[in-house]
Amino acid sequence: MSAAPKVLISDKLSPAAIAIFQRRGIEVDFKPGLKPAELREIIGNYDGLAIRSATKVTREVLEVASRLKVVGRAGIGVDNVDVSSATARGVVVMNTPHGNAITTAEHAIAMIFALARQLPEASASTKAGKWEKNRFMGVEVSGKTLGLIGAGNIGSIVANRAVGLHMKVIAFDPFLSEKRAVELGVEKVDLDTLVARADFITLHAPYTEQTKNILNRERLFAMKKGARLINCARGGLVDEAALFEALQSGHLAGAALDVFETEPATDSPLFGLENVVCTPHLGAATAEAQENVALQVAEQMSDFLLTGA
Ligand code: MLT
Repeated sequence: MSAAPKVLISDKLSPAAIAIFQRRGIEVDFKPGLKPAELREIIGNYDGLAIRSATKVTREVLEVASRLKVVGRAGIGVDNVDVSSATARGVVVMNTPHGNAITTAEHAIAMIFALARQLPEASASTKAGKWEKNRFMGVEVSGKTLGLIGAGNIGSIVANRAVGLHMKVIAFDPFLSEKRAVELGVEKVDLDTLVARADFITLHAPYTEQTKNILNRERLFAMKKGARLINCARGGLVDEAALFEALQSGHLAGAALDVFETEPATDSPLFGLENVVCTPHLGAATAEAQENVALQVAEQMSDFLLTGA
């Protein structure tokens, strides 16, 4: 009888994942917070590696992962995995594209309101004992145009919520069919049209060679004067230096950023601007989403390791 497959969980995953691996007869070690050298030292003992975003599965790690068959990312983005090296070594990389989509879409909607009503600044001012009713004049979102860059799993949920808020939703997404656009109640447009028409732009695209700096200086300054930008996708989609200029000059009224070019982002000129709302990559950070992605990744990896499916 062959030995049970062994899985290493190297990031903080819900305990529900451990229970699933064990129930499926898989040996599991839970070791979050390993340093790269520590990971390289032990990875050779495992058939599967379950991660979130902290573990970097580099070529160097894969080179010593002699038994590894599968890397499971509890979440969507696999940008912390060297997918081409993994593929070249026959290691399957899987993610959980649906488990945290609602949560991330809700964060983007929360960011729209945070910007429209300057909630973080107004809260800080009120707690500081000021009562600045006249300082915080907001804008309604109802009737405004929301531009979605990316209308996939997360973008389509944002569209659904925004339509419910009586926003007019336009979307740029090369993979969006006209039929799907009609189903979502959005108008499919090209990127230049979206940039020119939207009052709010929200990004829901992966970071790739094609999408890197998709909102570059030229496009940021082509946005409507007074428009607002929300990024809960990936930092490199927006040119941060150009965004700083666009905000400081008053061309854009505000930006809400959950993701940054470099993370953890502990210092940025953007932090000094009043019209910028920041959160530390919290898009997927709800109890529900973390439970979902942990359960899904554990089931998917178990299926793969036990049946090859
Ligand atoms: C994801 O890719 O699933 C999200 O960005 C969440 C995360 O990285 O933690």
